[in-house]
Amino acid sequence: PDVITVQDLANRMAEKGADLVKALFKMGMPVTVNQTIDQDTAELLVTEFGHEIKRVSDADIDIRHDEDVDDAANLKARAPVVTIMGHVDHGKTSLLDALRGANVQAGEAGGITQHIGAYQVKTPDGSQVTFLDTPGHEAFTEMRQRGANVTDIVILVVAADDGLKPQSIEAINHAKAAGVPIIVAINKVDKEGANPQRVRERLLEHELVVEEMGGDVQNVEVSALKKTGLDKLLGAIAVQAEIMELKANPDRAAEGTVVEAKLDKGRGPVATILVRRGTLKVGDIFVCGAESGRVRALIDDQGKQVKTAGPSMPVEVLGLGGVPMAGDTLTVVENEARAREVAAYRQSEALKRRTVQAPVSLEGMFEALA
Ligand code: GTP
Ligand code: MG
Repeated sequence: PDVITVQDLANRMAEKGADLVKALFKMGMPVTVNQTIDQDTAELLVTEFGHEIKRVSDADIDIRHDEDVDDAANLKARAPVVTIMGHVDHGKTSLLDALRGANVQAGEAGGITQHIGAYQVKTPDGSQVTFLDTPGHEAFTEMRQRGANVTDIVILVVAADDGLKPQSIEAINHAKAAGVPIIVAINKVDKEGANPQRVRERLLEHELVVEEMGGDVQNVEVSALKKTGLDKLLGAIAVQAEIMELKANPDRAAEGTVVEAKLDKGRGPVATILVRRGTLKVGDIFVCGAESGRVRALIDDQGKQVKTAGPSMPVEVLGLGGVPMAGDTLTVVENEARAREVAAYRQSEALKRRTVQAPVSLEGMFEALA
């Protein structure tokens, strides 16, 4: 299979693309600089031009910077990333809507959240909180697990009139498995039959001991409908975030995680990226999963175009070569040749994996992203 364009190869060899085209023509291959050539032809050209062949090893090509740790001196405070979890219909989306003063819930098909939305909310003290809204449906367990992963704090929404339900317990287990602290939002306290005390008691069975009972789990009674308890909830998040001292280096090549991605009719492939560290800028060249691209535009959660996005900020990224998968890492790289090379490598690896290996387990994904 073809591995590289003539121009990319020329760039890597610091030769002129036209010279490579000439050489290829002499070899009986009439191609243009934008066409791709296979491995053997590329290697032949490299030797023809008196360069050494340096095969990129697997380790070399793997550009995930998991091991490259930022210097403590470069770290700055970042907003906490909070995932809202809970049983279906307990009011996750309504609560998020109330917090950000918007109305997503009413616009959803059947009122069921189908994807992870990501939003930033300003707290009364002026700091930012990033929220992820995960689907509450049993069928979307996988997406929910992914949500817990990029998350610093989980808000467990429990409807006070319905109490702890299977998906509430599932959410508790996901958060625990990911080592993420939980804040319990006891919602719908406006409703008849609401029994917040009963919720607090049931939490004990899952080793969540609320402060009133001598534990360290914060719980806040709220009503997404009547918009009560919201400031208190934001306050609880701020307290938890402060304990955690969340930091990231904003002054480096950006790295982020895909929280959702789709093919948009008018705009092409679009991914919602949560920036983990560094600052993503318009014009940046990147690899995202097995796709490469260049940031054509960044759109914030208000639908406004922005030039840059720093740590903990969710942004829509335009300019992808294809649709990546949720959970993929976006990494900014130095140039297009590198981006394409890594993407091509990953595509071939993914193909191999698909044919010889069992699908990657959720546990494995958790670890890979942690
Ligand atoms: P899924 O995304 O399907 O899991 O649901 P969800 O948890 O996001 O719940 P959603 O916000 O869609 O709310 C479910 C229903 O509960 C809606 O009819 C809301 O209007 C209602 N609801 C949410 N919060 C409150 C509240 O505080 N009080 C009352 N009375 N109703 C609420
Ligand atoms: Mg919802």
